[in-house]
Amino acid sequence: MNIEILTPRNMQAKENRSLVTIANHSREKIEYLLEMAQEFERHPNRHLLDGKVVATLFFEPSTRTRLSFETAANRLGARVIGFADPKVTSGTKGETLKDTIMMVSNYADIIVMRHYLEGAARYASEVAPVPIVNAGDGANQHPSQTMLDLYSIYKTQGTLDNLNIYMVGDLKYGRTVHSLLTAMRHFNPTFHFIAPDELAMPQLYKDYCRDHGIKYVEHQDFNEDVIADADILYMTRVQRERFTDLMEYERVKDRYLLKLNMLGKARDNMRILHPLPRVNEIEYSIDDDPHAYYFEQAHNGLFARQALICDALGITLDEIKADTSIIK
Ligand code: CP
Repeated sequence: MNIEILTPRNMQAKENRSLVTIANHSREKIEYLLEMAQEFERHPNRHLLDGKVVATLFFEPSTRTRLSFETAANRLGARVIGFADPKVTSGTKGETLKDTIMMVSNYADIIVMRHYLEGAARYASEVAPVPIVNAGDGANQHPSQTMLDLYSIYKTQGTLDNLNIYMVGDLKYGRTVHSLLTAMRHFNPTFHFIAPDELAMPQLYKDYCRDHGIKYVEHQDFNEDVIADADILYMTRVQRERFTDLMEYERVKDRYLLKLNMLGKARDNMRILHPLPRVNEIEYSIDDDPHAYYFEQAHNGLFARQALICDALGITLDEIKADTSIIK
């Protein structure tokens, strides 16, 4: 009898289905994943992942990303292992990221990882025998957030094409805006970047826009006239944890606060997104305004992450559509 023993070494030869960045996804792939998310929004509770183990390794704090990935896995029947605080791991004894990843690959079918180092997810995907899903690497990328952002934009606008997307706040360190910008290249957006000089969109991403024919305008003013033709107003938190000079953080942290009285000229279809957590970027009085969509946006993360876990595990849209394991 021939039994193939799966060791980390020969598993590595198998197809790498990791999600490190969304920059390489085609329009068709994005639309495919959005259709998957739609299927899961219709029926989120299933037995699709019975017998699977999902590991969530969070080397940085998180509320939404970790809990929605874990909920996504649990609602599909998988079991979840992992940590929310690296202080409880053998990393504190000097174990390397590579060894940690190799160990967890012995236990889990897929690893969802957030790390404070840019490039950590790429590195993990190169050494891991199981798929890695990047749940945020430093100020670099946050592709699963982008999938839920795209899903939210699609649900609220009915299309991803030809939209005016305003990005406000910390465009230097905000990995969510970097990921979203690269994913939107297929959809002919016009970006408006509103940030103080210190937190401007990095040249790298402006070059990316130029290379891909994406229109963008930079502003420093933030008022009802500037945002009047926005379809999407994407607010971001100033990322205190990325500053080396806290005095600089203090100088810029409250620069752009969206107030209710700034929405007077907003388009009816305009929706306010925010990856959250919110600190002081959106007045609480806006929460009940019809333009506010950030809590629904976070809810959409559950369905988008169910799609991403399944895709990384090789489960296809056709299999999801044919799935009869739905729990009513
Ligand atoms: N949007 C987001 O990444 O939130 P968390 O940091 O709470 O996961």
